[in-house]
Amino acid sequence: PWPTCGSRGLFVVFEGLDRSGKSTHSKLLAEHLGSEAPVRWMCFPDRSSPIGSLLDLYLRKQASLSISAVHLLFSANRWEQAASIAEDLNSGTHVICDRYAFSGAAYSIANGLDLGFCQAPDRGLPAPDLVCFMRVCPEEAAQREDYGLSRYEYPEMQAKVGKAFDLPGLRAGVAWHDFDSRRSQEVNQAEVRDAARQALARSGPGTAPPLRQLWA
Ligand code: TMP
Ligand code: MG
Repeated sequence: PWPTCGSRGLFVVFEGLDRSGKSTHSKLLAEHLGSEAPVRWMCFPDRSSPIGSLLDLYLRKQASLSISAVHLLFSANRWEQAASIAEDLNSGTHVICDRYAFSGAAYSIANGLDLGFCQAPDRGLPAPDLVCFMRVCPEEAAQREDYGLSRYEYPEMQAKVGKAFDLPGLRAGVAWHDFDSRRSQEVNQAEVRDAARQALARSGPGTAPPLRQLWA
């Protein structure tokens, strides 16, 4: 189990299909919370590590890897950061993260792997206090700038990933909040902030629930 602390930071993860607005909303939330407490914004895959640079090559279609091997590499790329995420949270820093293990499972399920296999390597990672899921329809996402450069950016794949994100087993045990990307950015960001405030009230100073383990 992760060490616990009375006034830890909030762990918020943003999930969704490619081009669903995760980066924009996660950065806006980080900026918002940053006015009152230290915040760390991060994203997965973290392309800066050796494992991350291999994943970067894979996603840019410069390297081929088997589906199962790539799944384990994405998970390893999170484990590289797991202890530092727990450490930051326990020292009172909010951690805002663009993609996490839910992307890991959803994309690999779309590639034909089963949920149990997909969740196993990520079991035990720090569990987020809130997942903000940015729902977008694949056809709409395909209209966005530069779409199609990344390995998984094609409509059939995105449709499968979208279905996988809705599996109850994938969402089990974490607080999910779904957002409709067709609404304006302002409306969604206001709701993102509200959801974060509510999660913060649940894990506020003195009442902080211990950092939990994902899917454990
Ligand atoms: P992004 O950097 O634009 O979010 O793209 C990362 C791509 O990698 C995106 O298509 C989703 C995919 N992905 C996985 O397949 N498994 C994972 O565990 C993660 C974090 C991302
Ligand atoms: Mg992308």
